[in-house]
Amino acid sequence: MSPVAAGPVLAAAAVPVVGALSLALRTKANADALALPAGLPAHLPDKLAWNGSDLNQTSEHILKIDDTDHAEIRAASEYYKSLDQDGDLVEPSSFPLKTLGPKLRALSRDVHSGRGFCVIRGLDPASYSVEDLTLAYLGVQSYIAEQRGRQDKRGNMLVHIFADDSTKQMAEHHRHSTKAISFHNEEAGDVVGWLTRSTAAAGGKCIIASAYTVYNVLAATRPDVIRTLARADWPFSMPRFHCRPVIFYQDSKLIMNFGRAALMGSAAHPRPQHLPALTARQVEALDAIEAVAQATQLEIQTQAGDMHFINNLAVLHRREGFANGQGATEKRHLVRVRLRSAEHGWPIPRELAPEWDEAFKKQGVRQWHVEPMPHHFFPMRMHPN
Ligand SMILES: *[C@@H]1O[C@H](CO)[C@@H](O)[C@H](O)[C@H]1NC(C)=O
Ligand SMILES: *[C@@H]1O[C@H](CO)[C@@H](O)[C@H](O)[C@H]1NC(C)=O
Repeated sequence: MSPVAAGPVLAAAAVPVVGALSLALRTKANADALALPAGLPAHLPDKLAWNGSDLNQTSEHILKIDDTDHAEIRAASEYYKSLDQDGDLVEPSSFPLKTLGPKLRALSRDVHSGRGFCVIRGLDPASYSVEDLTLAYLGVQSYIAEQRGRQDKRGNMLVHIFADDSTKQMAEHHRHSTKAISFHNEEAGDVVGWLTRSTAAAGGKCIIASAYTVYNVLAATRPDVIRTLARADWPFSMPRFHCRPVIFYQDSKLIMNFGRAALMGSAAHPRPQHLPALTARQVEALDAIEAVAQATQLEIQTQAGDMHFINNLAVLHRREGFANGQGATEKRHLVRVRLRSAEHGWPIPRELAPEWDEAFKKQGVRQWHVEPMPHHFFPMRMHPN
């Protein structure tokens, strides 16, 4: 942007060539401004870089559970219950799936180093008690990624996502609103999973997009946006104020991690006045991500009983607004887990490590509520902040 500074090079140049030289330097300055940040590739040639419309007609990412699988899940649940141990200890050794297990492990590889997502379809929620459905979900999930993370200060391990307009605060919270949410990542977790217990009467589709494709399109067309995204000056407000990049590139892997609520505030979490606001360039960069993601998105047409998992480092997600119906099976209800696999997990950038530590390492309360709990339950205590 700024004119080339007249440094020693220009001063030393013979008068007649000053014009041409300054033009050449200015062109170089422009080229620098257009270049990608040092070390970032022009293109990510990876299976993760998909375009939703190319996957639209395929169902390769969907594993349909067959009768043998069903029988195995039921037997594994009975075996697990016979061990009489606490709910969070569900793991492949305590939930043996002889033929389904290897298929799930292949899906785990897909999620970590293939296309970055999968859907496991065919459980019928109506034929399970809520406890058994949750157990089946945790059992299957343990083959995708075995470490489960706390998801909030209360230590919730299972987050229930459903409409609740009992108070204005509830109705505006992402977990409980019926509004659309733009593309974002969860703050922590290599992998995020959802069990769909029931779907809305209308809308509420889960929609995903590849951060790799977003990167490739922007690197080719708007390298200045990539530069903005890679800068360490993004003022995140949650869970505490901190500044860091939106994209990271390490070990030949691109990682994207952001949410608009943490950067711009939301109805439920208005941005505190004393925090810096995003610059116009940063807002433009977020809009650019949204535009490319929407142009290349894939709608996951989830059905009741579906379990879907995404690579939260490389795949963005959003949801449509929705309207519930009157019947219990027409009310959208998802149960979310945040996961990490010791075997397949990616190295986490230093700037994101506090969130991962909080979720996966911190010794704290771990609550496993198979049904949504009231926001306040007894004993009532104030949280320290
Ligand atoms: C994604 O696919 C759509 C439909 O074929 C096409 O119009 C669009 O250009 C593609 N986008 C990219 C980034 O490949
Ligand atoms: C596939 O494309 C059609 C037409 O564009 C669209 O209506 C449908 O929702 C898409 N399905 C998925 C799974 O993205």
